[in-house]
Amino acid sequence: MTDDERFALLVGVMGKSELWPLRDERIPEGTPMSAGYVPGVPRLGVPALKMSDASLGVTNPGFRPGDTATALPASLALAASFNPALSRASGQAIAREARSRGFNVLLAGGINLARDPRNGRNFEYLSEDPLLSGIMAAESIIGIQQEGVISTAKHYCLNCNETNRHWLDAVIDPDAHRESDLLAFEIAIERAQPGAVMTAYNKVNGDYAAANTVLINDVLKGAWGYRGWAMSDWGGTPGWECALAGLDQECGAQIDALLWQSEAFGDRLRAAYLDGRLPKERLSDMVRRILRSMFAVGIDQWEPVSAPDMAAHNEIALQIARQGIVLLQNRGVLPLKAAARIAVIGGYAQRGVPAGCGSSAVVPPGGYAEVIPIGGPGLAGGLRNLHLLPSSPLDEMRKRLPHAQIEFDPGISPAEAVLAARRADVVIVFAIRVEGEGVDIPDLSLPWGQDALIAAVAAANPNTAVVLETGNPVVMPWRDSVNAIVQAWYPGQAGGQAIAEVLAGEVNPSGRLPLTFPVDLGQTPRPQLPELGAPWGTPSTIHYCEGAEVGYRWYARTGQAPMFAFGHGLSYTGFEYRELAVTGEDTVIASFTVVNTGDRAGADVPQLYLTAAPGEPRSRLLGFERVELEPGQARRVTLRADPRLLARYDAGCWRIEPGGYPVAVGASAVDLKLAAEVELARRAFRR
Ligand code: BGC
Repeated sequence: MTDDERFALLVGVMGKSELWPLRDERIPEGTPMSAGYVPGVPRLGVPALKMSDASLGVTNPGFRPGDTATALPASLALAASFNPALSRASGQAIAREARSRGFNVLLAGGINLARDPRNGRNFEYLSEDPLLSGIMAAESIIGIQQEGVISTAKHYCLNCNETNRHWLDAVIDPDAHRESDLLAFEIAIERAQPGAVMTAYNKVNGDYAAANTVLINDVLKGAWGYRGWAMSDWGGTPGWECALAGLDQECGAQIDALLWQSEAFGDRLRAAYLDGRLPKERLSDMVRRILRSMFAVGIDQWEPVSAPDMAAHNEIALQIARQGIVLLQNRGVLPLKAAARIAVIGGYAQRGVPAGCGSSAVVPPGGYAEVIPIGGPGLAGGLRNLHLLPSSPLDEMRKRLPHAQIEFDPGISPAEAVLAARRADVVIVFAIRVEGEGVDIPDLSLPWGQDALIAAVAAANPNTAVVLETGNPVVMPWRDSVNAIVQAWYPGQAGGQAIAEVLAGEVNPSGRLPLTFPVDLGQTPRPQLPELGAPWGTPSTIHYCEGAEVGYRWYARTGQAPMFAFGHGLSYTGFEYRELAVTGEDTVIASFTVVNTGDRAGADVPQLYLTAAPGEPRSRLLGFERVELEPGQARRVTLRADPRLLARYDAGCWRIEPGGYPVAVGASAVDLKLAAEVELARRAFRR
């Protein structure tokens, strides 16, 4: 390769879009516009990289007017299924749709842990737990790459808040980092070998993620032996020196030119190479890593593929929504009776279901039902819309409950909604919130007076169920006065159907919370978010002082009872756990029997936790399995713990202290049913 060919591979440019109307002459005429383009080397058979966002489907808004793709539910819904096979299927579906459009790199798979319930981007992430996030992300990456498309794991690392993300220093104890967010990446990367890893916008412990030699050179490429390439986030390459820290490719280079006054890996990197500041071996390594992933995944060997089966992909979206909806509370109102008078209130339930906003937004087949502009300051304000996907829960309920009398009230005024509630036997309130990239939510309330609406309706008719379509926990001041609460997340293009099926009892709910729902922000590690509301460009520091004790681990450590615990979710049937048997020594292996004790088929997700370690309290999810059971059916489940979850990371390796380790099988992080203790031997290991 010539040096020109080498350097060209190191810079990705963003396609022309409505938000970014400039055409970049580096992108040849006729190329489908999308998040990223890197020219290939035709004389050597090296294809151009055509990159598309893909957290929840092949994104299109702004780039390719008229293009549509399957709009999948929020990643939180996917993780709530605790079903790795569904994650693999969703990765395959996204990749097939991407490939049919010529995209060979997917910027998919956010793995950041949900550390803060205000993070506007949690809906694009999977969970607060490294094991669950690592496994689910791995399956999606495998699914994508099985279809011959490169997958990217992002945002490496600790982009756990959106507030001023370009100026944020995320500070964490490095060992605790290895036991939490980095462990999620480590598990996903070792299982799935994504072709690329995208660095985060923020700094980590003082250095920008893209310039962070500890994270990229030492941990990712050193300790984990990662062989793919590290690309930056769009506008996240503060200087050419990032190459020395291990960054291999600058992406969204035009945004760097705006934010940092210059592109980093163009002329500046070349100048550094010419005067010896960038060693030739490093340049070769950068190029080799990109080419290696191209060849490993096979994007240079593409044969024509048939058009994606959009009906089958809709079915995957539907399955994720069905399995990801979590029944949080039920005092007998659900499933709905066939012949009831039902008032459906609010949430645009007559039109569709909401989706999150930002770079992951997907226009579904047939287009959005509505796009209601929300706006706000900065670039993120332009992306902030209420996107309604055309799957109306109201219409779907009418189909499923033909003998019920169903009345709709828009929920814009509590007084009006109360009149509808009084006329009904049962009330279903749909509550929504717009969340998205670039914006943290200042508190955990519902906007547009919906908390007051629910309180008024529940006071008028206590037989009220609330369906939450949000990308994060909300505080629910009305929780004790409603009979049922359903967490439907952003449920995707088939979400209205899945919600109606769960309400009507055609689908037995089986989702489990992938993140803790706090009573209020006072219970969380940071009741106040530093620099929330500060003007764009204000440097801020967040001390992730909870370290590895994220989510349920934090609640266990601080002895607090959350509103709804990690792993919680109800069913229309009942489950029991029996006959726990455990063995120890090298790691924990636990076997137990799950029984469906009710009179309906259903799926349960028994969870195995470490509840303490010698000399200290320690809560860790060690394993889980989704089990489908007919009434009366029993199944023996065996879970084997990843030893890293029993260890502490200290002085460069994982260490298990010898002694007794209590474990428990439970229906959530706090609803522990069977307990035992195992003896573990002393161990130290690197991977
Ligand atoms: C986001 C990334 C995304 C990229 C390209 C950034 O703003 O943080 O997740 O892949 O844009 O669209």
